[in-house]
Amino acid sequence: MSLHILTNAYRTFDPWCGRPRCPIELDLGCGKGGLTLAMAARFPDRLILGADVMLGRLRRVQRRVQQRALGNVELLRVDNLDLVGYQLPDGCISRLHILCPDPWPKARHHGRRLVTSDFLGKAARVLRPGGVLHLSTDEADYIAFMQAAAAPLPYFRPVEAATVLADVADIRTEFEAQWLAQGKSVPHLAYLRQ
Ligand SMILES: C[S@@+](CC[C@H](N)C(=O)[O-])C[C@H]1O[C@@H](n2cnc3c(N)ncnc32)[C@H](O)[C@@H]1O
Repeated sequence: MSLHILTNAYRTFDPWCGRPRCPIELDLGCGKGGLTLAMAARFPDRLILGADVMLGRLRRVQRRVQQRALGNVELLRVDNLDLVGYQLPDGCISRLHILCPDPWPKARHHGRRLVTSDFLGKAARVLRPGGVLHLSTDEADYIAFMQAAAAPLPYFRPVEAATVLADVADIRTEFEAQWLAQGKSVPHLAYLRQ
């Protein structure tokens, strides 16, 4: 396992990092790595990519990966717009998880939200056909914002999260656990890449 620091000097990045090709789960904005670490332990035959812009968080995740001797993780220090926009090759990702992205609750900051139609168009490029887009948020109006962003796109069909994400439904990220402890709800959305 390595911690790769991707800059925009990269045109494309080999997400398998030279390994044999296998399904890839991308935890975009992995934060403290709860989902990345849990998926790595659960799915030894898949490659788990944990991507975040904060190097300090990634270094902590890296230590846990090493302590747990997880051999199927690669960590990427990268801006998520660069990674999904052009650094990953087409159709390489089996499931893209974007859990509790920064909520930007004030209306004047909504333009900073990650999950827009423009971004989801880019996400469609990196997902393989039949792949899954997995979203969650604690911010009530961000769920409607996400649904509105996906609705006009022909690439994504909404499906029951309980069906296509049953194998990760019990995993709580650090942010989700924090919000649930405060009595908030954290709904999840799932879309199939058509
Ligand atoms: C609210 S936290 C959620 C972390 C984790 N998914 C969870 O649910 O616990 C959002 C994460 O997105 C990362 N992030 C924010 N902007 C980013 C960007 N432009 N590129 C990559 N990561 C970013 C932050 O560093 C942070 O770790």
